[in-house]
Amino acid sequence: MQAYIIEFVNLLLRWLHVIAAIAWIGESIYFVMLDNGLRTPKAAEDREKGIFGEMWAVHGGGFYHNQKYATAPAKLPNDLHWSFWKAYTTWLSGFALFVILYMVNPGFYLVNPDSNWAWAANLTGWQANLLALGFLLGGWVVYNELCKRISPNMERDGLLSIAVAVMMVVVAYLSTQMFTGRAAFLLTGAVMATAMSANVFFWIIPGQRRMVKAMKAGEAPNPLDGKRGKQRSVHNTYFTLPVVLLMVSNHYSFIYAHELSWVVMVLFIFAGALIRQFFVLMHAGKIQPAYPAVGVGLILLAFWVAAPSPRAAVEGAGDAPTQAQVSGLIEQHCTQCHARNPAHAGFSAPPAGYAFDSWEDILGHKASIQQVVASRYMPLGNITNMSDEERDIIAAWEE
Ligand code: HEC
Repeated sequence: MQAYIIEFVNLLLRWLHVIAAIAWIGESIYFVMLDNGLRTPKAAEDREKGIFGEMWAVHGGGFYHNQKYATAPAKLPNDLHWSFWKAYTTWLSGFALFVILYMVNPGFYLVNPDSNWAWAANLTGWQANLLALGFLLGGWVVYNELCKRISPNMERDGLLSIAVAVMMVVVAYLSTQMFTGRAAFLLTGAVMATAMSANVFFWIIPGQRRMVKAMKAGEAPNPLDGKRGKQRSVHNTYFTLPVVLLMVSNHYSFIYAHELSWVVMVLFIFAGALIRQFFVLMHAGKIQPAYPAVGVGLILLAFWVAAPSPRAAVEGAGDAPTQAQVSGLIEQHCTQCHARNPAHAGFSAPPAGYAFDSWEDILGHKASIQQVVASRYMPLGNITNMSDEERDIIAAWEE
């Protein structure tokens, strides 16, 4: 019953998380599009009012006329529309999901028994949970310091972008050493997503509040608040595509259970940012296909890096394992969890929907079984201590 309740809450949280994220990212993409698509106002009176850009749009059967002021309108209306709850809801629901999916069972989901670092492979559950929280917090602190130190007046944004890119490579590498592949992808995505929400919470919204307050008091708003808000919101836009990929990567063990998974992750992060750049420029009227072309090149490189190596299967080809050998191994290493009625107390139903009760079940999932065993993703947390020799037998199985 407890496992069922957790699964049900998981479903509801995931629903909320995806909806909030769609709303947030949709709005963020919309405003970047609007900002870059603004054109000099046609009417002289608009220009005199201080409007520096406008956009005409048609949507849902109506016509819209957006206008952006260079600094601020002479008088601010009281019913100003603010955007922040979507960002906060996305982060909060995402964090809650992380807690119930990973932190409730850190031994399986966080601790990486194959880590090259002995200390990381031997973490206790609590240590792994604390490390994961520290990782998220540390990611934000480092990113925020980079922004503050490298570009305090928002004048060295190019250098800052390079620094943030290097930071993401380091985060990708560290995460794959410290956590299981699946958690590493998720946590790297969460470092970016935390920076995005924290940008909204700590800088963009407070800056806007200061600007509004100054204007209401008849003072000129501090231009740095506006510039910083813009800078952080531009960072957010380049994070969006990579974050979504890392969040959905959870269903694809071939990318995160690979030995070089951090390289695959870095390739996808840069590919996402480059593809986003194409759209950012496109809204400003510049078509530059080189960006998505390089992005697609990086994805093809990732395809090549993550491709399963055929070596194991070829080596074992001489002596194809028997049905009894294969089903024996699955019985020993998998069916305590992957059965219609799992014996393992943590599951009320077969995890990920995979049950291996009969030989037909096993045959039906042959490709998936070989893949997760070769990549060492399964047995989860290697709780049954499946050996490399046993993995080779599954790889050589041909029936
Ligand atoms: C301790 C319980 C446990 C054991 C033992 C275990 N699994 Fe899993 N398995 C899980 C869980 C939990 C998931 C879902 C994880 C996820 O969502 O990625 C899963 C997912 C899978 C998937 C789907 C992976 C995907 O990417 O969707 C396959 C295939 C699989 N297991 C095969 C196996 C095989 C083969 C074995 C034995 C060699 C095995 N499992 C042993 C718990 C277990």
